[in-house]
Amino acid sequence: MTSPPFSFSPRRIVILISGRGSNMQSLVRACHTEGWPAEVVAVVANKPGAAGLAWASEQGIATACVPHREFAEREAFDAELARVIDGFQPDFVILAGFMRVLTPAFVRRYAGRLINIHPSLLPAFPGLHTHAQALAVGVQVHGCSVHFVTPVLDHGPIIAQGVVPVLAGDTANDLAARVLEVEHQVYPAAVRWLVEGRVRLDGEVPLVAGVAQRLFLHPMLLHTEEVLHGD
Ligand code: GRF
Repeated sequence: MTSPPFSFSPRRIVILISGRGSNMQSLVRACHTEGWPAEVVAVVANKPGAAGLAWASEQGIATACVPHREFAEREAFDAELARVIDGFQPDFVILAGFMRVLTPAFVRRYAGRLINIHPSLLPAFPGLHTHAQALAVGVQVHGCSVHFVTPVLDHGPIIAQGVVPVLAGDTANDLAARVLEVEHQVYPAAVRWLVEGRVRLDGEVPLVAGVAQRLFLHPMLLHTEEVLHGD
């Protein structure tokens, strides 16, 4: 019997989380319901109590924890994290609310295969408390960015962005909830493009093929006049 002309092997995804893992859940659900050529093979956390670990485990996904507090040096933590991740032989490592700064050595190890979602329209507002930062300077739109990870924190070639309006009277929590809605659209779309081979990193530039729209608008922006003027 002759071999088939090519063999299909699903892309292996490892997701890193630190907390509730709602982005991780949106990725797992989309992978199943949309039939991606991929499998989430493991969810790894840096905190034993990360709520997302229990959810992943209930779905039958392998879980692991590398508690960062047990490591005096960032390098030692990252080395152990990489050892655990590599045990799952991932094609892609997806950061989904993983709240640790990664060392250059870790980032280089997964160059072109390490993706993050950040809750701002990068390059604006890197770091923490992005929603409060946005409110403090009075921007009219805010959102999220999915990007390839580089050694510089919250920086790197952008794959897709989601935009939400900032409304009068918004608190940081209001804005965070609105941004999270688009995060749950943008991240599954971007990771699907990755596993389908539609997007890859070419040096510093993301090469994207067969993707019509890399910008996602919150539904409120589709009715801007009503939102802004209350008509
Ligand atoms: C998200 O807003 C993500 O962009 C940021 O941290 C939050 C994590 O939320 N990095 P979740 O754990 O995915 O629910």
